[in-house]
Amino acid sequence: MAEMKSFKTIGVVGSGQMGSGIAQLAATYGFDVWVLDTDQDALSRATKSISSSIQRLVSKGQLSQAVGKDALERLWFTSNLEKLSSADIIIEAIVESEDVKKKLFLELDKITKSSAILASNTSSISITRLASATSRPRQVIGMHFMNPPPIMKLVEIVRGADTSDETFDTTKALAERLFGKTVICSRDYAGFVVNRILMPMINEAFFALYTGVATKEDIDAGMKLGTNHPMGPLELADFIGLDVCESILKVLHAGLGDNKYAPCPILVQYVDAGRLGRKRGIGVYDYRQMLGSVNP
Ligand code: NAI
Repeated sequence: MAEMKSFKTIGVVGSGQMGSGIAQLAATYGFDVWVLDTDQDALSRATKSISSSIQRLVSKGQLSQAVGKDALERLWFTSNLEKLSSADIIIEAIVESEDVKKKLFLELDKITKSSAILASNTSSISITRLASATSRPRQVIGMHFMNPPPIMKLVEIVRGADTSDETFDTTKALAERLFGKTVICSRDYAGFVVNRILMPMINEAFFALYTGVATKEDIDAGMKLGTNHPMGPLELADFIGLDVCESILKVLHAGLGDNKYAPCPILVQYVDAGRLGRKRGIGVYDYRQMLGSVNP
């Protein structure tokens, strides 16, 4: 196994569901972490959610009080990209849009040190194309965490066409040794492994709902009790974010060229209506009463 570089500082870009979870994980593993978002409200939500998540882990005995306290002291939140210039690796977790991610990678390439690895948590977008926006395609890689990152065991690592062996070995070692994750490796095709298989199932569940095959509750109960999935596909879609599901399906549709990947009209309509899932309090299901509040 290759020697792992001694990383000290991690930059996380995007402080939504995934970015805040990755930042929390990195801080509890002893890294200094800069978290960047362009949206101040998202940064405030991340500060609160990371703090309450760490407190929850401490109260359940899953994290020691000392590690929890240390982690909170290692996190810095900013909307100034320059602050990430000292990072040894950047993990990008912004909106699932190729154009927006490419623009960010171009900026990151300019402000980070030349040795830094630029990793993307993208669910489906081509790592090769993101790498092409930079002058360091050998140091660009996919590091796809599952939701929620502090809990889920898997990291899917995606090699772009030019990703070097050194970048791959270092990123894999970081995920395995420091984040304690199990790694699977995927070639750079739309959706990689997990979403190539998961998203068509979720989309089919929306089609079953759309065509009146069954109620949402019966579709979810059917898959939970019938196939032993911990969550039904519609419940899982709400958990992932319906906007994220729609974006991934569009990437699969464009990248694999088969109409079976086109997002179901009812999924598109929910997104158009702002029903983005749990993060907005309402998606296929209504969580507003249960969560007690709704994010704007
Ligand atoms: P989210 O919508 O919760 O958060 C995205 C954040 O990125 C927002 O706070 C937004 O303000 C910020 N942002 C947008 N453009 C930005 C920019 N140019 N610079 C800095 N910040 C910017 O989205 P979520 O769910 O955290 O997804 C983020 C990424 O992670 C996506 O690529 C998604 O495909 C991927 N992913 C999502 C999973 C999920 O279950 N939601 C699972 C695994 C990967």
